[in-house]
Amino acid sequence: MKICRTIESLSSALSSVGQQSIGFVPTMGFLHAGHLSLVEKCRQENDLAVVSIYVNPAQFAPNEDLNRYPRDPDRDIALLEKERTDLLFMPDAMEIYPPGYETYIRVEGLEAALCGKSRPRHFRGVATVVLKLFNLVGPQRAYFGQKDAQQAIIILRMVRDLHLPVQVRVLPIVRDSDGLAMSSRNVYLTPVERRAALHLPKALGNAAALIHDGVRDDAAIKKTMADELAKDPLVCIDYIAMVRLQDLADLVAVEPGNTLIAAAVHVGKTRLIDNLLLGDLSC
Ligand code: PAF
Repeated sequence: MKICRTIESLSSALSSVGQQSIGFVPTMGFLHAGHLSLVEKCRQENDLAVVSIYVNPAQFAPNEDLNRYPRDPDRDIALLEKERTDLLFMPDAMEIYPPGYETYIRVEGLEAALCGKSRPRHFRGVATVVLKLFNLVGPQRAYFGQKDAQQAIIILRMVRDLHLPVQVRVLPIVRDSDGLAMSSRNVYLTPVERRAALHLPKALGNAAALIHDGVRDDAAIKKTMADELAKDPLVCIDYIAMVRLQDLADLVAVEPGNTLIAAAVHVGKTRLIDNLLLGDLSC
């Protein structure tokens, strides 16, 4: 696996790619099985698999966990070697946002919903870095996880709106054996917090069971989730939402094939998200 730490070395490594197709998995590192499922699919569908590791300062608010975000580059490199990644782009912060940097991408409307309410500049940072990475890597396909469903929807819209020549592939949530969706931030949880966090996938499971039984009404679905999350005082709800996939507008009833049920909670100092997708997120 070739490791590039500068934009110059990345473009020189990519200059010999020729007609080979490039698949790309952008990450912030501290890789887990969810990331590796993206890399595996990327390998299967493309001639070359390119991964980036970059903890993007622009998507963290000043009060968030940028400085303590978990990092283990040596472990990440070993995991990516094992997945037969061709190229790893691991730039320094200054490579991506040099002094005088001024340009940001806003996917208006979509960025303001769900997580955008409590993280108002988060998706501006995500869209900006993803567009910059697309420009630098030039992939035919890029891979994202469904766990960050709003992120995936925003990137799909950015690609459509800006006519970017990239196919966005959104792959299913990978869960630990206890049901918790894989996330680099799970490492923050103490054993007691982790047990409390399990009410989040359980709440979504309860919602799925209600829908399976024919319930469609948003209030009933949100209530079953809120009841589950209320079982542990360590769980503090940020939001529970049922929205339409295209525009993230609130729904009053499930629209088959077009609905996202999403929740965000705080458990101690850790913010966790998870969702239930009743539809397809790809282009
Ligand atoms: O999902 C993530 O890890 C990040 O938001 C991403 C897409 C790598 C952009 O920094």
